[in-house]
Amino acid sequence: MTWNLWPRTKVEASKCVIPLAATIAVLRPHPAIPPTLPYAPLRCKTCCSALNPFSRVDFTAKIWICPFCYNRNHFPPHYSQISETNLPAELYPQYTTLQYELTPPDTNLPVFLFLLDTCVISEELHFVKSALRQALGLLPDNALVGFVSFGTQVHVHELAFSDMSKVYVFRGTKDIPKEHIFDHLGLPAARRSYHPSNAVTRFLLPASDSEYALNSLLDELQPDQWPVSPGTRPARCTGVALSVAAGLLAALNPGTGARIVALVGGPCTEGPGSIVSKDLSEPVRSHKDLDKDAAPYFKKAVKFYEGLSKQLVSQGHVLDLFASALDQVGVAEMKVAVEKTGGLVVLSESFGHSVFKDSFKRVFEDGEQSLGLSFNGTVEINCSKEIRVQGIIGPCTSLEKKGPSVADTVIGEGNTTAWKMCGLDKSTCLTVIFDLSSSERSNTPAAANPQLYLQFLTSYQRPNGQSVLRVTTVTRRWVDVAVSSEELVQGFDQETAAVVMARLASLKMETEEAFDATRWLDRLLIRLCSKFGDYRKDDPSSFTLNPSFSLFPQFMFNLRRSQFVQVFNNSPDETAYFRMLLNRENISNAAVMIQPSLIAYSFNALPAPVLLDVASISADRILLLDAYFSLVIFHGMSIAQWRNMGYQHQTEHQTFAQLLQAPQDDAQIIIRDRFPIPRLVVCDQHGSQARFLLAKLNPSATYNNAHEMAAGSDVIFTDDVSLQVFFEHLQRLAVQS
Ligand SMILES: *[C@@H]1O[C@H](CO)[C@@H](O)[C@H](O)[C@H]1NC(C)=O
Ligand SMILES: *[C@@H]1O[C@H](CO)[C@@H](O)[C@H](O)[C@H]1NC(C)=O
Ligand SMILES: *[C@@H]1O[C@H](CO)[C@@H](O)[C@H](O)[C@H]1NC(C)=O
Ligand SMILES: *[C@@H]1O[C@H](CO)[C@@H](O)[C@H](O)[C@H]1NC(C)=O
Ligand SMILES: [Zn+2]
Repeated sequence: MTWNLWPRTKVEASKCVIPLAATIAVLRPHPAIPPTLPYAPLRCKTCCSALNPFSRVDFTAKIWICPFCYNRNHFPPHYSQISETNLPAELYPQYTTLQYELTPPDTNLPVFLFLLDTCVISEELHFVKSALRQALGLLPDNALVGFVSFGTQVHVHELAFSDMSKVYVFRGTKDIPKEHIFDHLGLPAARRSYHPSNAVTRFLLPASDSEYALNSLLDELQPDQWPVSPGTRPARCTGVALSVAAGLLAALNPGTGARIVALVGGPCTEGPGSIVSKDLSEPVRSHKDLDKDAAPYFKKAVKFYEGLSKQLVSQGHVLDLFASALDQVGVAEMKVAVEKTGGLVVLSESFGHSVFKDSFKRVFEDGEQSLGLSFNGTVEINCSKEIRVQGIIGPCTSLEKKGPSVADTVIGEGNTTAWKMCGLDKSTCLTVIFDLSSSERSNTPAAANPQLYLQFLTSYQRPNGQSVLRVTTVTRRWVDVAVSSEELVQGFDQETAAVVMARLASLKMETEEAFDATRWLDRLLIRLCSKFGDYRKDDPSSFTLNPSFSLFPQFMFNLRRSQFVQVFNNSPDETAYFRMLLNRENISNAAVMIQPSLIAYSFNALPAPVLLDVASISADRILLLDAYFSLVIFHGMSIAQWRNMGYQHQTEHQTFAQLLQAPQDDAQIIIRDRFPIPRLVVCDQHGSQARFLLAKLNPSATYNNAHEMAAGSDVIFTDDVSLQVFFEHLQRLAVQS
């Protein structure tokens, strides 16, 4: 949470500058989670919240009092044995998170519908085919697999047709209504039974039965054969292809764990969802074009993918997007369909690049390395009476379920106390933004309670089809800020606050016309420092910050310089990609996206974190930068020279060999844990790739003050202000009367 102690009133909360927010990792494996319970939880009769350790229990009368609505609930007869010394797991004080297994595992799930772009050069097609073959080999035998390829047209491949490959062709020029898709594929218009009808199983076959058919299909698959005239882009109908894939999955029962795994190698240029014309002289839209409203395809395409996302959410199906191309493919437009369905996204420059290859493999891996892909998730939030939910930022869709705790103002996916997550996994995180009710506090039991309560109820299906309900109940203390703002300060979580501000700023940049993120962040930071700093008015030198806040200005400094705010350094596709991951990752990973970590390796010292500053560069050091999306191993000048001379191969220089190896090993540890796989850049001081490190460092030494710097360090050519100058400005503005 941004604040772990909550102000009592809406007015006091707004003076805290940073909103009340919580990030919840809905499925995070946690060592403290007790064995899963094989039954459903008891629910409060009045408000539906689940029995939890914060309920007051009268063991004699066999009654529990709900901490949310104060209703008295009778325990059912099978709880008659409970006592202070014989507690059910639900009441153990340490079990604030519990999982309930509601059904046994199912057999015929999940469904993977692969959607492959064939408008690519044969080398790329070769790479993506081998990734697919590997994936097919990793799938569990009972998974259902389908295959659709597309280029100028859409080809739905019938897999049950073993002697000869049979293909259903759809034109790519205009959207096809679902009924026509059903008609053309010979699917019955209405679903009759729980399990997929026989008709669908012509297209979706168990992995074990389809491996042969799919492998021979892949062997024969050629790049799209439609002629492409010089100076034009190939006709690629990604939008219609996604529509056809969604239509095929519509024949399944809603909520069946099905995902469209889209492998896209270029921009959509044909039919709905097109992001650019076929004329190569017209470049794909940039941030400048979007800013000037000079991207004629953008809004129409986004609208189309919004429609697709609505269809997928209503079916309960997921869209995963693997975009691999040097140019943009339309991730910015398709983002809505990926994010609202809880899909995975990986952006890389080629299907041959390790970012794609290794990430794609991870999707299908089992065991420790498994992503834990789950489906048909719903999260519901219950809270104490004076708390309102404004919305959620993250991979989910509002279910528009109104209730007393819904706030009037909406942030992200709001207007609801329940959200759909068609896809969710071990790393999925949601950010919930709260508000307080503006009504005066009455003379109720709630008003007298020094504690507030929140309950998150997540129901979902595991990869094996088993239905699970996970309940997390949280309590925090109210503080009367008018009496003691000192206490409030102790509950501030700087890292979470920085991540929440990054998510809010990104959301506003996407949704508010002409929003100036830098100015907005600066003003918030100045207000925060004015409120919580210690100083004499108009005396900047007297300014100090409580340790609870002392790291926050630096986070904001780095956020202002980050890819989330300086979007013009990237393409709209890259920005969309960065934001989707910012919104779905946990706090520590998201914090590294904003403020990378930097570790130095040198002789005679253990690897140690160093300042994210150009002064940390030195000729006899190796640096490892973790910026989440990329890892940079940077060799100082002397290290690079020694390596070029091959010292590491000489027995008397074993420590040098170890020094060279250590950051490589540490980088591999980070890579193994992360999805998508980060890009690894290995470079030397003054080399061209060194820019990947320099761009992230505080420019304490620029060409303006280079003469003051120690020899061996580096100089950044920039007009950006340094952290020190930024902090001086901040002090001056915060103390202003
Ligand atoms: C999907 O989840 C909803 C809500 O939790 C549930 O009612 C439905 O039965 C689930 N669908 C399947 C196919 O399990
Ligand atoms: C708890 O959640 C349920 C389902 O969303 C809702 O009907 C109920 O009003 C909520 N109760 C409280 C106290 O928030
Ligand atoms: C919230 O719901 C109200 C109606 O209940 C609707 O008028 C409004 O547009 C909704 N707001 C958003 C942002 O969805
Ligand atoms: C965040 O996720 C990473 C794995 O990607 C994990 O190692 C780390 O412990 C998580 N951090 C928190 C605070 O949950
Ligand atoms: Zn209740």
